[in-house]
Amino acid sequence: KTIVKKINEENMEPGCLEDAASILQKEGLVAFPTETVYGLGGDALDTEAAKKIYEAKGRPSDNPLIVHIADMDKLVDLVEEIPEKAYQLSDKFWPGPLTMIMRKSNKVPYGTTGGLDTVAIRMPSNKIALQLIRESGVCIAAPSANTSGRPSPTKAEHVIEDLNGKIDMIIDGGAVGIGLESTIVDLTSEIPTILRPGFITKEMLEEVIGNVEIDETIIAKKTDPNLRPKAPGMKYKHYAPKAELTIVEGTEQAVVDTINEYAAQKMEKGFRVGVIATDETFARYKASCVKTIGSRHDEEQIARGLYAILRDFDEQEVDVIYSEGFADSKLGQAIMNRLLKAAGYHVVEV
Ligand code: TXA
Ligand code: MG
Repeated sequence: KTIVKKINEENMEPGCLEDAASILQKEGLVAFPTETVYGLGGDALDTEAAKKIYEAKGRPSDNPLIVHIADMDKLVDLVEEIPEKAYQLSDKFWPGPLTMIMRKSNKVPYGTTGGLDTVAIRMPSNKIALQLIRESGVCIAAPSANTSGRPSPTKAEHVIEDLNGKIDMIIDGGAVGIGLESTIVDLTSEIPTILRPGFITKEMLEEVIGNVEIDETIIAKKTDPNLRPKAPGMKYKHYAPKAELTIVEGTEQAVVDTINEYAAQKMEKGFRVGVIATDETFARYKASCVKTIGSRHDEEQIARGLYAILRDFDEQEVDVIYSEGFADSKLGQAIMNRLLKAAGYHVVEV
């Protein structure tokens, strides 16, 4: 049975995480909020705990986990050597939504890294997460706390939907602030490379460490069988709603007209159609279920709402979803990366 426990990040009572910490110390699993998405935590240095994480999520075991720490002195134990750029980036962005890949030390089991000689490490800024790591003394391996393939959880309710009965505890710390997973930067390549775009953008990283590359597979408009994403997890169809999702891109009115036309055709055949609209276009759509994700000009709001809207459409049992596309710069790049994956790269340009 899964215990669900509400905790207010801004008003944590001393000892409120004692039971969660003790679960982690005994190879158990605790889902907890971070500033990006909810994580499913277990002891990263314990192969048994890592195994349980893969089982609970139904995740392929070649897809490595991110190790979460709360203090810099733990980093020394986890990696072979700390590159200069890791110090510069951690000074600027930790705690926060940035994951760095470095060569692992032999303390980190291959069960956590999916057999790789590198390890992904992040220091989250959510206070519940930090406190849980400190109180347990555990380096917490935590993938997003969703069933593998479903949209990542941005509220405790999403975690309950996916993992209730499969893990020991869920800490409900309310809705997350960012809503998309952390930026992953690989520091083992000659030029640091972004393997997954997120809230910390390429420009922000370059300001601190100079030239940064982006793994080309993550911004590609379609899957190319010749390109293999460097982050193993990025190759899976991911973040996906149950309904078939299509992105329609073009000028505003053309997008509205095209989506309405497609929607009418589908509804005529008896399908339920969902539309992901923006505040600017919301009133112009006719479909079974139209939802706005917020203003097109507020990328942070779009990022925060994306996964919840995909899950909402699952609940509404729509058969197909049409979504507008978003700008491909800054945070928009992370948004489009997730949306494209959710759509299985199905894009229509009008
Ligand atoms: O924001 C986040 O990062 C959230 C919260 C919970 O911290 N966690 C998260 O974990 O998104 P997960 O497991 O859903 O995604 C981890 C990604 C996967 O795509 C995985 O392939 C990649 O990180 N990754 C992990 N270790 C790696 C490594 N050594 N080399 C390359 N990619 C790695
Ligand atoms: Mg995930």
